[in-house]
Amino acid sequence: MVKKTGGALFSTLNINVSSDTPLYRQLETKLRRLILDGELVAKTRMPATRQLAADLGISRLTVKNVYEQLIAEGFLCAKQGSGTYVEPVQSSELHSGVVARKQRKVSPIAALSPRTVSIGASKATTRLDRVRAFRPGIPALDLFPRRAWLDACSRVLRTSSDDFLGYGPSSGLEDLKQAIAEHVLDHRGIKCSSKQIIITSGAQQAFSLIAITLLEAEDVVWMEDPGHIAIRDSMRLLGINVRSVPIDDEGFSIDDAIRHHPPGSALFTTPSHQHPLGVVMSLQRRLSLLDYASQTGSWIVEDDYDSEFHYTDRALPALQALDNDGRVLYVGSFSKSLFPALRLGYLICPLGLAQSFAAAQTLLSQNVSLLQQKALANFMLDGNFNAHIRKMRVAYRRRRDKLILTLEQHASDLFEQEPCHAGMHLVAWIKASGVSDSEVAECVWATGVDCLPLSIFCDTQRLRPGLILGFACAVDEKIEPYVIRLAEAVRHFLTDQAVS
Ligand SMILES: Cc1ncc(COP(=O)(O)O)c(C=O)c1O
Repeated sequence: MVKKTGGALFSTLNINVSSDTPLYRQLETKLRRLILDGELVAKTRMPATRQLAADLGISRLTVKNVYEQLIAEGFLCAKQGSGTYVEPVQSSELHSGVVARKQRKVSPIAALSPRTVSIGASKATTRLDRVRAFRPGIPALDLFPRRAWLDACSRVLRTSSDDFLGYGPSSGLEDLKQAIAEHVLDHRGIKCSSKQIIITSGAQQAFSLIAITLLEAEDVVWMEDPGHIAIRDSMRLLGINVRSVPIDDEGFSIDDAIRHHPPGSALFTTPSHQHPLGVVMSLQRRLSLLDYASQTGSWIVEDDYDSEFHYTDRALPALQALDNDGRVLYVGSFSKSLFPALRLGYLICPLGLAQSFAAAQTLLSQNVSLLQQKALANFMLDGNFNAHIRKMRVAYRRRRDKLILTLEQHASDLFEQEPCHAGMHLVAWIKASGVSDSEVAECVWATGVDCLPLSIFCDTQRLRPGLILGFACAVDEKIEPYVIRLAEAVRHFLTDQAVS
């Protein structure tokens, strides 16, 4: 939804509240542009923050933060008791803006199709490049054993034959597949042969491979709602008919799906730690899903993205380990257990599908870097992978406990916490009613603290507002000061809302 300000001077100012570009960044860029283009001239009095916030339908704190930033950059100045004014801009800067504007080519773009527009509006990229507390989904990059990784990488080039500079096998490197087969047997009770494993460029590529290889355009798939945005939107991008399934206390609500949707060719689920609500799927529900898949011949895509991290009992066995009929496609990732930039994941499939998946991998992207695969195999075979996971389980439990405690100490009036027994993030429900969690998140981001609003994970479900807070990447000493900052930002937002 695009919001415009009133009045001629600011009529070009519109803010897209559905965009994944933060509101403050949109406003800051537009005001800077107006000044550089000479449209907002020196000595122009800026609207009061309350006025501009009301015109744009955004929070006053966002406008205040933008003004402060532009004052710091020298584009505006604040005069006590009088208001905020545009500063004179160096003629060279002004000139570059004007010239740039004149030279800008306006290329006629044919009307965009609804599909193009909806892909462009995907929220999957929201703050994907951030790594600081409390960005969900980012592991403890500060604790990654860089030296051991460097050793594993440099050994590849020092000791490997020229074969490692070629394309390599399309399903992935045998050493790595064997190391993964051992890992999933130990950690998830999965008995598989390396022949069932396809190495992918992260879990995301495994989901695309599954869709392209096994599904037809317009097939119905059932997907958790709230759920992983990138899976949902990538399926829609491929023309697949995504139907939303709510989450109850036991996880994926299969009864609801059967009642409300046409049969699904596949269902996507995160049973070991529902993303993002955190529900661990009960054993009974796991068996119901498997039963349904056996009876109907549909596929279950099991996304086991952060199952290495659980803090109470032993994790329940993976769906794949309980499956007797070859209906489960198990997807694992090293983005959480090691680091996202590695871009390595894997798909474990029934043996009869392995050749098709391997061929699809070659057709779509040739292969995953053989050098990275070999480095990871070295790292795992040296015992460094298991050692890292053991250490991270301790560190994440400590960071989780500290986040829970400090939220309790500094923000118990603002949030109600969902119990968190696994994974790398928790859900903090916002107690105040009628607020937009996206706007709350905007205010939090403006203070340098990260988080994601729960609503961006929702498709058709409307849940209470909440923030998803990742604790794994939060350096221990920063947790308390960041929680204090977060609480201040939310209080500020609520006060602002009450006043306006
Ligand atoms: C639910 C879920 N599944 C899988 C992944 C992993 O994706 P990838 O391996 O492509 O980094 C993520 C990453 O954020 C996720 O949130």
